[in-house]
Amino acid sequence: MSHSRPLAAVVLAAGEGTRMKSSIPKVLHPLCGRPMLLYVIGALEELQLERIVVVVGHASERVIKTLHSETDVPLEFVEQRVQRGTGDAVSVGLTVFPDDMEEEDDIIVVPGDTPLLRAETLAGLAREHDQSGAAATVLTARLPDPTGYGRIVRGKDGRVEAIVDHWDATEEERAIDEINTSIYCFRRGLLAPALRRLSPENAQGEYYLTDAIAVLRQAGHKVLAMESPDVAEALGVNDQVQLSEAEEALRVRINSHWMREGVRMIDPLRTYVDASVSLGTEVELLPGVVLEGKTTVGAGSVIGPDTRLVDTTVGQGATVSYSVATGAEIGDGVTVGPFTHLRPGAVLGEASKAGSFVEIKSSTVAAGAKVPHLAYVGDAEVGEGANVGAGTITANYDGHAKHKTRIGARAHIGSNTVLVAPVEVGEGAYTGAGAVVTGDVPAGALAKGVPARIEEGWAKTRADQAEAQEAADHGES
Ligand code: UD1
Ligand code: CA
Repeated sequence: MSHSRPLAAVVLAAGEGTRMKSSIPKVLHPLCGRPMLLYVIGALEELQLERIVVVVGHASERVIKTLHSETDVPLEFVEQRVQRGTGDAVSVGLTVFPDDMEEEDDIIVVPGDTPLLRAETLAGLAREHDQSGAAATVLTARLPDPTGYGRIVRGKDGRVEAIVDHWDATEEERAIDEINTSIYCFRRGLLAPALRRLSPENAQGEYYLTDAIAVLRQAGHKVLAMESPDVAEALGVNDQVQLSEAEEALRVRINSHWMREGVRMIDPLRTYVDASVSLGTEVELLPGVVLEGKTTVGAGSVIGPDTRLVDTTVGQGATVSYSVATGAEIGDGVTVGPFTHLRPGAVLGEASKAGSFVEIKSSTVAAGAKVPHLAYVGDAEVGEGANVGAGTITANYDGHAKHKTRIGARAHIGSNTVLVAPVEVGEGAYTGAGAVVTGDVPAGALAKGVPARIEEGWAKTRADQAEAQEAADHGES
């Protein structure tokens, strides 16, 4: 009997991931900004299964919370209280299925630590399994270095006999280069009884899911192996080295996708784009660009080199170089950098400019306004076409509360002005260099700072005094 597709999947995500040596549960480690487990869930989502059951255990609350906040895919959670091995984890997963459910149904089993797995590969595995009528079909791969993985032991007839864990394998078995990806399709009605026959007599004292293969074979059932079309998909992440390898592979996928959409990357291996980022056509990303979170970049904008944008929106035709921005909005045609720091709530209007050594936070810089160099603009509104001179500081904090600064359209803020908030500079008004502005400046007015007094001939007077002093000192000795 044949079905069109499996109805359910069990995802194994209860393990601690000790080899990561990290306080973050293994399956929550981010790759290109997205927790590892989300990639596996994403691949399963494409199969349109009826049920996805996630077996959680270590830090289960945190795992469940993260999944709830990052995906809308309906998931069912079941807790494996003690992590007794992958076989035990699947047994726990199967408890959510009612006993009267179709025994012939197929069930997919995947670990939570294979982020490179593709939906097409899973679909291919399910199809193969369905058409062959096997009791189990395991996805395998041939690796140049199979260290650490379970090996696929085939009989003389080439059929899968068993899977032997690396730590339990003989020298001869370790020489086998075909490995278990831990991705399987099972006939559910045969899996449950096979799991009941597992024993923890092995190097790790655990109930190995892999032993279910030999159990099924010995009971005379058909077990098949399907070699993965792409060996990269087999990569299981157990430590930080494998995490970085998987992330690199995902980065290549993400960057290739965007380049095919018309994004220009001079050096894709030095361009870091999170899975959640969105880019327009003819965007140019220079080396050292890191785009994170909900960042979007509009058509024709040039970002980099060495620029990090987090949750930042960039419009079309903008330029951002050697800069850092978090939670900022950069409008069309805006120039940012080199060396600008945009903090949350910085909103730069069309064709405005934020230049070198400028920090902007919770402020709106209207269209065409400029903050070209060396300034701090916080809790401010800078009007259209206004110019904020070098060294300008909005003194927005009085030690207790933050206050607003309003700079009118086309106002000119002179170099080194301190705007002591709350304060308002009217339209077209000027402040002189070095002005400390503590009260509102009416439109069109000039607020002058403390001008320096001139002392003519001061340098000569000082030199003469020094000479006289020296002569006096010599005379004394
Ligand atoms: C497992 C396989 C190995 C395969 C490799 C592929 C077994 C015994 N070994 O080894 O044959 O080559 O994956 O990457 O199955 N988990 C639980 N509960 C547990 C134990 C593990 O949920 O009690 C989960 C883990 O969170 C993880 C997955 O199962 O997501 C696999 O466990 P892991 O310890 O990574 O197994 P490997 O040693 O990699
Ligand atoms: Ca693993």
